[in-house]
Amino acid sequence: MAKLHLITYGCQMNEYDSERVAGLLRDARWELTTDEREADLILLNTCAIREKAEDKVFSKLGELRRLKSSNPDLVLGVMGCMAQLHQATIQSRAPYVDLVFGSPAISRVTELVDHVRRERRPVMDTGEGPLVKITARAPSASRLRAFVTVMEGCEKHCTFCVVPTTRGRERSHTPETILAEVRGLVADGVKEVTLLGQTVNAYGRDLTPPTDLGELFWWLNDVDGLERIRFTTSNPYNLTPRLIRAFRDVPKVCEWFHLPLQSGSNRILARMNRGYTVERYLELIAELRDAVPDVTLSTDIIVGFPGETDDDFQATLAVVERVGYDNVFAFRYSRRPGTPAATMPDQVPDDVKADRNTRLLAVTGRLAAARSTRLLGRTVDVLVDGHSRKDADVLAGRSRCNRVVNFDGQGQVAVGDVVPVTVTEVLPHSLRATLAPHAEEALCTSR
Ligand code: 5AD
Repeated sequence: MAKLHLITYGCQMNEYDSERVAGLLRDARWELTTDEREADLILLNTCAIREKAEDKVFSKLGELRRLKSSNPDLVLGVMGCMAQLHQATIQSRAPYVDLVFGSPAISRVTELVDHVRRERRPVMDTGEGPLVKITARAPSASRLRAFVTVMEGCEKHCTFCVVPTTRGRERSHTPETILAEVRGLVADGVKEVTLLGQTVNAYGRDLTPPTDLGELFWWLNDVDGLERIRFTTSNPYNLTPRLIRAFRDVPKVCEWFHLPLQSGSNRILARMNRGYTVERYLELIAELRDAVPDVTLSTDIIVGFPGETDDDFQATLAVVERVGYDNVFAFRYSRRPGTPAATMPDQVPDDVKADRNTRLLAVTGRLAAARSTRLLGRTVDVLVDGHSRKDADVLAGRSRCNRVVNFDGQGQVAVGDVVPVTVTEVLPHSLRATLAPHAEEALCTSR
């Protein structure tokens, strides 16, 4: 069997796409290898969201060039968002790349690879294509948790973001296709699905008849054997009372909500074209907390967006303090080709971005640690997914609020079980717990 080495950069949607590519190629008798030196085909699934992600890919391509000169039969491919955005640059900076294809071409990957191997000349496929649900899965994919793409693309046109160019317009998969995929995954042992979409809460409005994410939750809730449903990423602009009700009412939906704020300054939010104000955002947070008091909240924030003053940044810190997130992902603004913000006049110097990033992380770290301590002594449900990395007697899993929990299963618990445990210690990146004597109502599931 020929050997495939697959390197994935970027978001969960890329991880999902990589799994599909590995699955499709496996059906065509390609075996995955973790050793790039023994590969006959190396694919880089790339991310274009920030410049740093792109730099990593070009430096990896530079390394792989050496491998290719010692093994001229090696086929080297670049797929994903950079392929879509930078086809010409890839061809000029790395002319030894044999294959470049965007996400619409993923379903044809086998054909594209065969083409390169047969013709011995580069193949480019970065055009638009129909939305296809691919259910092939890599043998290496997790048995308990799975990503499921429910929609592709984004039509928000935030001025910093390249996604509308790389992933195209919004297109939802039908509920029937998603249900069939989830049923298949559950039959293979999957217990938890994370529904993916660039604006996942805009799901379904492009379908005929239209539907929405809340309705999809209810359908999926009926799948026997499925324990948990997560979803990401939501946009505040599309967060409706209907979705908040479904978030509260659908039992399998976990109490975990990722809601990007991006900035706590109305002036910057307007320049970002986010479509909401800080006041509106805080109202939504209040509604979410009202519906699910113990909701775990996380967010994305960009520091150093063009024109961001120290006062704007202070306003962001104030919102972060006020919300009290469990987790914050902070990003330094990165100029993306073709986006409106890239040519805005008042770009922020790198050292100022770095300084704001450090200040933001100091605040978010302190708040997250304070939030974590409230878990001490509480009972939470854990989906057991393996052993602790440090101690094989200790089981590891995740709570509904997505925290890593380690505990002693005392020989009574197996991988795949959902068990209540009581938190005995809160560490920076995980929790320690003991088996709870009774299935008390878990913190994260209290409604
Ligand atoms: N620069 C920095 N961060 C960005 N993001 C998106 N585009 C950019 C950019 N040009 C961040 C946003 C988004 C997350 C996935 O990446 O915060 O929510």
